[in-house]
Amino acid sequence: MIRTAALALLLGLAAAPASAAEKDPHTGFIIAPGWETVRNNCIACHSASLVTQNSGSREHWLSLIRWMQESQGLWAFDADTENTILTYLSSNYGPKEDARRPPLRPDQRPENPYSQPEQTN
Ligand code: HEC
Repeated sequence: MIRTAALALLLGLAAAPASAAEKDPHTGFIIAPGWETVRNNCIACHSASLVTQNSGSREHWLSLIRWMQESQGLWAFDADTENTILTYLSSNYGPKEDARRPPLRPDQRPENPYSQPEQTN
């Protein structure tokens, strides 16, 4: 009995590596607090990948939600639900500070081969 339980515990631990974030196989959402709320509210109109490939601060996500509510028919959320969604999105799909290199300085940029000598419009 005890050995079976110990084995099950071992297998359970082995099956859940601490490193890589676990993802829902159907939507690809990272499994973390609030993910079901996001699944229940965010994949009715478009695929989950539209959500998961986006990233940003809480303000970024809030402004996206407001935009969808104002112009895309997204329903209103009560304060708790909205808070859950924003916390989930900003902690699991937060700003990618290191993913982008800063823009080149003008003197580092190549000459634009398409630039026109004179602009007529
Ligand atoms: C009522 C329909 C609807 C629901 C529900 C909905 N969206 Fe959207 N969303 C849209 C539409 C329409 C677009 C524009 C799709 C396109 O451009 O192809 C969009 C676009 C997006 C985009 C891409 C924005 C961009 O800049 O390209 C993201 C990210 C997004 N939604 C996240 C969410 C999240 C998070 C939720 C849940 C809180 C959600 N959506 C729920 C309608 C919805």
